[in-house]
Parts: sequence; structure tokens; C-alpha cells
Amino acid sequence: MAEERAQWTSRVGFILAAAGSAVGLGNIWRFSYAAGTEGGGAFILIYLAAAVFIGYPLLVSEISIGRATRKNPIGAFRTLAPNAPWWLVGAIGVLTAFVILSYYSVVAGWAFAYTFESLRGLYQPSVDHAEHFTKHISDPVAPILWHAAFMAITIGVIAMGVVKGIQRVVQVLMPLLFLLAIVIMIRSITLPGAGEGIAFILTPDFSEVTPLTVLHAVAQAFFTISLGMGAMITYGSYLRKKDPIPSSAGTIIGLDTFVAIIAGFAIFPAVFAFGFDPAAGPGLAFITLPGVFTEMPLGAVFGFLFFLLLTIAALTSSISLLEVVVAWLKDEHKWKRTKAAVVVGCAMFAIGVLPSLGYSVLSHVQAFEMNILDLYDWFATSILLPLGGLLTIIFAGYVWGARKLSEEANEGTGKLRFGPGMGFMFLVKVVVPLAVLAVLIAGLYEKFAA
Ligand code: TRP
Repeated sequence: MAEERAQWTSRVGFILAAAGSAVGLGNIWRFSYAAGTEGGGAFILIYLAAAVFIGYPLLVSEISIGRATRKNPIGAFRTLAPNAPWWLVGAIGVLTAFVILSYYSVVAGWAFAYTFESLRGLYQPSVDHAEHFTKHISDPVAPILWHAAFMAITIGVIAMGVVKGIQRVVQVLMPLLFLLAIVIMIRSITLPGAGEGIAFILTPDFSEVTPLTVLHAVAQAFFTISLGMGAMITYGSYLRKKDPIPSSAGTIIGLDTFVAIIAGFAIFPAVFAFGFDPAAGPGLAFITLPGVFTEMPLGAVFGFLFFLLLTIAALTSSISLLEVVVAWLKDEHKWKRTKAAVVVGCAMFAIGVLPSLGYSVLSHVQAFEMNILDLYDWFATSILLPLGGLLTIIFAGYVWGARKLSEEANEGTGKLRFGPGMGFMFLVKVVVPLAVLAVLIAGLYEKFAA
């Protein structure tokens, strides 16, 4: 007897799961260092435009494709286009999940380790945080154990199922995450000298903006909204017909952006108040912030809360990446959920050992001036996600078609509606494909020609 497909038991459950996927290391770690190096508020404004005009139409399309077919990404494309190789777009998504989660779990492992270290006297004036971080990641063993621990928790949640695992966990962790972010932000903006950091976010500096900034803002929108690899197709496949897609997609992007901005207001005022460099790059969260916590009253408490926040945000994202592959094996190959979660999670762990070792015994492995982790990140976010997103939007707008897309998107309660005519469909058919194509080309140009 066929087992009935799981469904989110409430609209809020779906929104929190999807927002949980969206809110992750991308919002806190990636967003803050991108904004810090590329014009502060100017980057944020360009990012907002990218989220609304490119992220939103693609998010609605992905959720609709998932709900219309009730399938994993490979099965979804195959169902809607049985006689053409569009299922390959889903296959790119499954591949992307392997690439992203393998290194994502490594970085999440660093955050996990720092959560515990915060409780064991990490914030002493005698500690040089740059040196400490380098020492932490260049140990060949410990980061791999933290990576394993993080992956084990991810596997555990997915093994428990869509409702009893994912939905139950996000319903507890997401409110906690919002609360932690707000508490840390209040601490940060009330520090003496915080004004400069607040101004840094609110006054856009367009002199730092280049065409590449636009490219990075669009790529950031893809990454942070979890687009271009079928995660939202998979989560959409568990959505009830009566739940509205257009407004839910808006709420998901709104929550994701809200957390990114809160994170900005939590990080930059503190960085400025203690005279650190906002353009410190990827090390901002792991080097600059511990320096800030060292100088801050009650820094150990806020340091612990910050890294806890980072770990929780990473977990609600990593489960969505693992679920894509598990859903595919379950739907198409009739694997048991637990077996799929364990086998895939272990494979992803193994693939992630390489980027972790890229800071120690494999540090000589470099390509285009990137170590293994940066290479995985570049390949996933500059190539695979835009490619997947481009093919998905072409599929939605032209193959599946504007009429069917709008029918599915409009099904359910809610007042926001999209006709198959112009407006929204102009974004789907023209603006998004052209913009994503430009990102793909510019990304390749940036690496190989510039
Ligand atoms: N959105 C997450 C973040 O901001 C990362 C993530 C989860 C993701 N699932 C994804 C990125 C799917 C791309 C595709 O950290």
C-alpha cells in the first residue's frame, strides 16, 4: 500500500520550515561580510531589489512546481515534462545539495565548537582571536569531529520525518532564533559608540559599488533564499492545496531579510564601537566578533548566544538540503527515510572532510587562489545555483507555462493573485532569466578573465 505523502499540518509550519531553510549562515556570516566589504547600506539596497524582483518570482515558481507535483525535484520535473530531459534540472539540484551541505556543515561545525568554547573562557584579553581561529580550523581532527556532530543532528531531524522532525524542530528553533537575534541586536545598538555602525548600515556608500556588487547581491539572494536547487520545490511538495503561495512566499523572504538586517544591526554597531574593521571578510564572525565580545560587558554571555544563534540558523538550513536528496531516494527509489538520511548524510560528511582538511594537511590544494572550501562554495553558488535557477525559471515560464504556473500559485486562500498576463509573468519570463544569465556569465568572467 502506498504510504500517503507527508504534509505540513499548518500554514505557519510551512512558513517556518521554509524561512528556516532560508535563514542560515548566509544571513549572518555571508551577508554581513558582503555588506561590510561592498558599501554597507548600498549593498543592502541592491540586495533588497534582487530579493524582490528576482528571488520572489523564482520562489513562487519553485513552491508551485513542488505543490503541483507533490514530488522531489527530479520527480517533479519528470512529472510535468515526461518526454524531455528536464529532470536533469532536478538532478543538478540533488548534486548541488551534496556540494553545499558538505562544506556548510564544516562551517556550521566551527560555529558549534565556538558555542561551547564561549562557555570555557574564549573571551580573555590574552587571546588573539585571529590566531585562535586559524589554530581551530587548521587542526586536522577537531573540526572534523564537530562537522560530524553537526551532520549527525541534521540526520537525526530528517530521520524523524517531515512533520515530526522538520516541522516540530523549526517551530521551536525559529522563534528562539528571532528572539536571540533581537536580544543581541539590542545589546549591540546600545553600546557606547554604536552610532557609527548604525550609520554604516543606513547610509549607502555607492562609491564602493561596482557591477560586480550587483552580481554578488543577486548571488546572495539565491543563496540566502535557498533558490536554484530544488529545496523550495521539495518543501512546496508538502504544502496543502488550501494554503496560499503568493503571500507565504512574501513572508518567507520578509523573514529572511529581517534576520539579515537584524544581524547587520547586531554586528556592525559592535564592530565599530570597539574599533574593528567592518571589511574583515569571511573572518568577521569568527575573528572580529570574538574580539568584540572580549571587550563587551557580559561578552561571554553574548558570545555564547551569538554562536548558538549561528548554529541554530545553520541547522534549520542544513535539514532542508538533506531533505532534497532524501525525498528523491524515498519517492523514486523507495528507500526508507531513515536509511536515506543516514546513507546520504554520511556521504555528505565524507565529502566535507576534504574542505575541512583544506585548512591543514590539504592546504596545498588550491585552484584559482581558492582553497577547497572556497572552491566548493564558488562552484555551488556561482555556477550550480544560477544554472539551476535559470533552467527552473525558463521551465516555469515557457515549458510548464504562465497559465499553469499562475493556476497553481493562485490555488488556496489568500488575496494576492497573479494572472497569466503581464506584471508578475514579465518578471518570470523576461527579467529573471536575463538577470540570472547575466549573473552566470559575470561569475565566470570574474573568475577566469578578470
Ligand atoms: N539559505 C541558507 C543560508 O542562507 C543556505 C541554504 C539552505 C541553501 N538551503 C539551500 C542555499 C538551498 C542554496 C540552496 O545559509
